[in-house]
Amino acid sequence: MGWLSHAEGTLDPEAVTIALLGTGLLGTAIGQRFLEQGESLQGWNRHPERLAPLVALGAQAAASAADAIAAAEVVVSVLSDGAVCRQVLIDQAGGALAGRLVINMATIAPSESQELAAAVSERGGRFLEAPVLGSRPEALAGTLQVMAGGEPEVFKEALPLLRQLTPAPRLLGPVGAGLITKIALNQLIASLTHAFSLSLHLVQDSGGDVGAFMELLRGSALYAPTFDKKLSKLLANDFANPNFPTAHLRKDLRLFLASARQQGLTTTGLDGLAVLLEQAAGTAIDGLDYSALHRLTAQR
Ligand SMILES: NC(=O)c1ccc[n+]([C@@H]2O[C@H](COP(=O)([O-])OP(=O)(O)OC[C@H]3O[C@@H](n4cnc5c(N)ncnc54)[C@H](OP(=O)(O)O)[C@@H]3O)[C@@H](O)[C@H]2O)c1
Repeated sequence: MGWLSHAEGTLDPEAVTIALLGTGLLGTAIGQRFLEQGESLQGWNRHPERLAPLVALGAQAAASAADAIAAAEVVVSVLSDGAVCRQVLIDQAGGALAGRLVINMATIAPSESQELAAAVSERGGRFLEAPVLGSRPEALAGTLQVMAGGEPEVFKEALPLLRQLTPAPRLLGPVGAGLITKIALNQLIASLTHAFSLSLHLVQDSGGDVGAFMELLRGSALYAPTFDKKLSKLLANDFANPNFPTAHLRKDLRLFLASARQQGLTTTGLDGLAVLLEQAAGTAIDGLDYSALHRLTAQR
């Protein structure tokens, strides 16, 4: 395999072709970053029209996931959830995985990731989970936070590519360890947004001084930067053009609750938030920015 530097066990990013599976919100931004870094990209997406922005930037459009993988050495998948990862990577394209390095960046359950790793390995591939914190702007700037799980030598092999997305890729342990950390962080996205939304609503809806509320909050230890990041959306009740939609926040909260219950943690305080987010399923809120949770906290 000419693309491997055996001396270091790392791949040469200038010599590889990447099969990018899933060009949704995050996948497109990651693909654009790879192209801007000079990578060669074979893109595949279920709805091919969503490949157009990357093709315009120089990516090749593959007719199937298996075709994309066959023409590449590395697979980067940014698909929506665990079931879809399994369906695309294993059921549809499993026959093309031999000899490939598979880097899965989707947020899925740690157990699903372990099953995926075993299935990839059975087919002769190498697997690394590499979920990320950050969204489209960070992907485009190469400042995502990547928390990998897998074998150290597979991580080392993937490092040159991961460094194009993040200044400091981290290996947190075996497959599953990266995702445990990722869903622990995403629980905070849900809980902080929910807590802020409820308090802001109380001040807003009772005719209070939102400016004073924010000044007091910013001057206190309770403040989190995400509050100001989302404030204008909440005040304008405008959640269009999402980077991270409500449907994925609900998915990630479900993943957190399942893992937390498995660990015997008491999730009672969080169960109500899950019920609230379930109310968005199948509604327009699902496709909006996750801070549209602010609409759910004011349903009367
Ligand atoms: N967006 C973010 O800021 C962000 C940040 C961190 C992690 N993540 C994680 O990254 C993953 C992708 O997120 P995203 O925001 O890019 O989601 P997205 O815009 O909803 O894209 C989802 C991708 O999955 C594909 N897909 C869905 N169902 C499929 C199926 N049955 N068969 C084949 N392909 C299917 C979609 O294809 P179609 O276009 O054909 O529907 C699309 O390529 C998720 O696990 C998410 O939690 C996202």
